[in-house]
Amino acid sequence: MPAITLVGAQWGDEGKGKATDLVGNRVDYVVRYQGGNNAGHTVVIGDEKYALHLLPSGILSPDVTPVIANGVVIDPGVLFEELRGLQERGIDTERLVISANAHLIMPYHRALDKVSERFLGKGRIGTTGRGIGPTYADKISRAGVRVQDTFDPKILRKKIELALNDKNQILTKVYNRRGLDAEQIIEEYLGYAEMLRPYVADTSLLLNQALDDGKTVFLEGSQGTLLDIDHGTYPFVTSSSPTSGGACAGAGIGPTRITRVIGILKAYTTRVGSGPFPTELFDEQGEWLRRQGGEYGVTTGRNRRCGWFDAPIARYATRINGITDFFLTKMDVLSGLDRIPVCVGYEIDGERCDEIPMTQTDFHHAVPVYEYLDGWNEDISHVRTFDELPKNAQAYVRTLEEMSGAQISAIGVGPGRDQTLELRPLV
Ligand code: GDP
Ligand code: IMO
Ligand code: MG
Repeated sequence: MPAITLVGAQWGDEGKGKATDLVGNRVDYVVRYQGGNNAGHTVVIGDEKYALHLLPSGILSPDVTPVIANGVVIDPGVLFEELRGLQERGIDTERLVISANAHLIMPYHRALDKVSERFLGKGRIGTTGRGIGPTYADKISRAGVRVQDTFDPKILRKKIELALNDKNQILTKVYNRRGLDAEQIIEEYLGYAEMLRPYVADTSLLLNQALDDGKTVFLEGSQGTLLDIDHGTYPFVTSSSPTSGGACAGAGIGPTRITRVIGILKAYTTRVGSGPFPTELFDEQGEWLRRQGGEYGVTTGRNRRCGWFDAPIARYATRINGITDFFLTKMDVLSGLDRIPVCVGYEIDGERCDEIPMTQTDFHHAVPVYEYLDGWNEDISHVRTFDELPKNAQAYVRTLEEMSGAQISAIGVGPGRDQTLELRPLV
């Protein structure tokens, strides 16, 4: 019966993959509803580590049906590469279901993503270069190619030819690059048709029927609230809606089906790519967080920018998404600090502001106002109950809970599936 949504509450990489994996054996469907292979979700099961980009993390749970829904953009080459990688590791991937309406990332999308970033110079977004933005742009401008189009060679040809009329002009005349060959792309994408066909279905129908049958549908967001196209730090955002509202449009289920929204929140903050980040640390403390937390991108290998916990951001995520429960991850990383700064508001051009300011200009000027909480030295990675946590760690959790506006229902103390304190059942 219930549909449960999981969203990143900060700038991505909060630990969504781990959280999804944790509930994997309690749900029937795990659905990706937006984004594409810009995501990098890490799942650690025993000694095995998996990095998933396009596939829902639920693919690692044998009884789950993983679904790539209509809101996702699919790079078919990456899809089949990722499937092959899992098959080689003994994972059954045949259960995967893909929406006929999902849009395809085309070679010209990847080319345009890279070249436009290069031309932006210092103003670049710092995208993952996977073609995400140009693919969503074509979707919105009604020039996109969908999974189902590969089944109709005439339509596929027409769409690719039309798109290239335009894109090749831009690539050659604006960016001084070589144009792409239509025949080659048509042949490549026609070749994907029969590979895709066994997986393709009307996923909205499938999920609604599952909900009617009393099954549990888990909607796994990628990216994070502050990377949302509407609610993030625009233009330094991704091109989709990772927030909970996006889950309905991206999966084709109604908002009345969603009973719970779980926000994944890191005990500190990280960001990859450009854009404002008030609590960012540029000193050795930032380097310390990066090293302790292993904050290096799963998709691009870039260093993640690191900073302290930002309470206005957590509160913002609560209200944009209607978060009912938080999963606070990476508490173990903070062990060893005498005192831990927590941003409780900002000073913006001399004025105190307790929420994210209305304009991006102000947000660029936001200087964090910190409260200092007492730290702890104990290694907490073996702790399994809240009561076993050092008193100061308990106080840190309780303070963050108060500031964030929703209950913290789970705490991560390590990357492993079992390194979790579940204060109340997440599902
Ligand atoms: P996602 O994109 O939100 O799925 O997150 P990523 O996988 O990109 O980054 C989160 C990283 O933190 C991964 O390497 C996880 O294995 C790791 N991780 C998740 N939860 C915890 C935790 O509670 N403690 C520690 N130390 N690592 C964690
Ligand atoms: P997960 O799901 C962190 C960032 C990029 C860039 C911006 C736009 O692992 O949390 P895009 O390629 O989407 O057009 O890039 O968004 N970004 C992410 N940052 N985690 C992610 O995914 C991200 N996906 C995109 O770094 O700043
Ligand atoms: Mg990630």
